[in-house]
Amino acid sequence: MEHKPTVLLLGGCGFIGRNLVTYLVENDLTAEIRVVDKTPPQMAWLNERHNQAFDNSKVEFCSANLINAASCKNTFAPHPTTGRTWDFVFNCAAETRPNQTEAVYKEGILKLSTNCANQAANCKVKRYVELSSGCVNSSEKMPQREDCKLEPWTCVAKQKLKVERELEGLSHALPYTIVRLPIVYGLADKRYLMPRIIVAAIYKYLNECMKLLWNDSLHLNTVHVNDVCAAIWFLAQNPVAINEIYNVVDDAESTQGTISDILSEIFSIKVDYFGVMMSNLAKMSLSDTVSEVNDKLMTPWAEICQKDGINNTPLTPYLDEEQLYHKHLYLDNTKLKNLGYVLKVPKLTRNYIIEIIDDYIEQKLFPASLMG
Ligand SMILES: NC(=O)c1ccc[n+]([C@@H]2O[C@H](COP(=O)([O-])OP(=O)(O)OC[C@H]3O[C@@H](n4cnc5c(N)ncnc54)[C@H](O)[C@@H]3O)[C@@H](O)[C@H]2O)c1
Repeated sequence: MEHKPTVLLLGGCGFIGRNLVTYLVENDLTAEIRVVDKTPPQMAWLNERHNQAFDNSKVEFCSANLINAASCKNTFAPHPTTGRTWDFVFNCAAETRPNQTEAVYKEGILKLSTNCANQAANCKVKRYVELSSGCVNSSEKMPQREDCKLEPWTCVAKQKLKVERELEGLSHALPYTIVRLPIVYGLADKRYLMPRIIVAAIYKYLNECMKLLWNDSLHLNTVHVNDVCAAIWFLAQNPVAINEIYNVVDDAESTQGTISDILSEIFSIKVDYFGVMMSNLAKMSLSDTVSEVNDKLMTPWAEICQKDGINNTPLTPYLDEEQLYHKHLYLDNTKLKNLGYVLKVPKLTRNYIIEIIDDYIEQKLFPASLMG
């Protein structure tokens, strides 16, 4: 008799969510998975491997807008045929689009997560895992531990911190675990490392040096999405992780320099930096600078895509202003490692980036000619 747990995966069609579905299915870890999302899998640009995972008979899709409390409640109802309730709830759903108003982030993050956590408490789930942000603090000198002083510096992180507080308040009723993330990369990344990859590719096409704001020592810590998935699963099983926060970050201590060096090698481009002084001048009108850069890159990107016969792609070189701040994303992973978690991908390397690009080329979403 099989006693594998059941999983309710909120936001399961997103970048991390789809990788988590695939991780759970491929490793046969669960009895049932209900994926909840407002975007149906057919509209989510899933690759072949992710599609196969979603087609598994253990996976059920449920369409819902989790901002709506009644819809949210429905998604927690027991499985229609087996009647089983949910052991683990993983919340990967959030408003992650850049440049939204504060009200939109508040609804799409604070309200959404509060709805989900309250439902999880009502249903007496064994564990609720919330995906939070590593942008809740920043330091140039010291990798930030989970208990360091908090100064959230992105719109998402500001709301996520409020969610963390809500969960603390629910701790008597809901065993939860919070995961704080840096730049997450891997198959299906569109928003974090991918725009930087595309920007580098466009500089190759333009045959120009890629000149970046700040300098090479700006910390931009990373983690592979496979580690995010494995760590979520690992933490959900571990009673010590109840009502705790963990940074899930690799050992690479990635910086703008280490990332750009890899991109420079892949695309044979030169990289240079404006330096802190010049960048501070640009910072006075950062939004103008960002608009200018985005304008400069968008036209050639459209051109290359068209040349390669790509008429529609969710990929873009668009970097939002927050991603270009002089803010160090520098996180300490000691707490996670002390619990016994062993990183699958300790370091970002060239091959992991090529894997992402190749996957998009196969789906005809990234111009193959840029890799020639
Ligand atoms: N450095 C960071 O701050 C960082 C990095 C990576 C991920 N994260 C967090 O991890 C989580 C997952 O990130 P991701 O990259 O997979 O995001 P994503 O945008 O790719 O996926 C989010 C999914 O949630 C769904 N969703 C959004 N609003 C919804 C709603 N109202 N109802 C139902 N579904 C809704 C979307 O359709 C999407 O499929 C997010 O909470 C994100 O903020 C943070």
